[in-house]
Amino acid sequence: MRKIKAGGAVSGFLLVMTIASGTMANAAWAAPPEAPGAGFSWKDGAEVYAKVCGYCHDAQVGPVIRGRALPAAYIHAVVRNGNRAMPAFRPSEIDNQSLAKLAEYISKN
Ligand code: HEC
Repeated sequence: MRKIKAGGAVSGFLLVMTIASGTMANAAWAAPPEAPGAGFSWKDGAEVYAKVCGYCHDAQVGPVIRGRALPAAYIHAVVRNGNRAMPAFRPSEIDNQSLAKLAEYISKN
């Protein structure tokens, strides 16, 4: 009995490690958006807003965030960390450069 239980725990652990290292590999692969062939980088702040943020913030799911002169640093922090119903976005989803452009776009428009 004990041996079977221990074996189960070990293979469960290995499975978790396999999944975790797979996720890490994906994140590393997606990290440099400028790299040729890496696929995807946002064109500018307006595009990120329209395709990601507007989904909630133009649909009254989230509060209006444009035209309020919200500080760029605040927008940056909310996007990276999330806040209650607001989801956090990782650098693999919105890279740092795109987030800087996005925060500037929102605070000035
Ligand atoms: C899945 C829906 C959803 C998406 C997508 C989303 N947000 Fe939000 N956001 C929310 C909600 C809901 C809140 C209100 C959170 C709360 O107070 O509980 C919020 C709050 C915020 C706030 C704080 C507003 C304030 O009045 O202080 C900022 C800034 C913000 N979001 C920026 C963004 C940006 C930038 C994006 C795009 C990268 C984005 N959000 C994408 C749902 C979303």
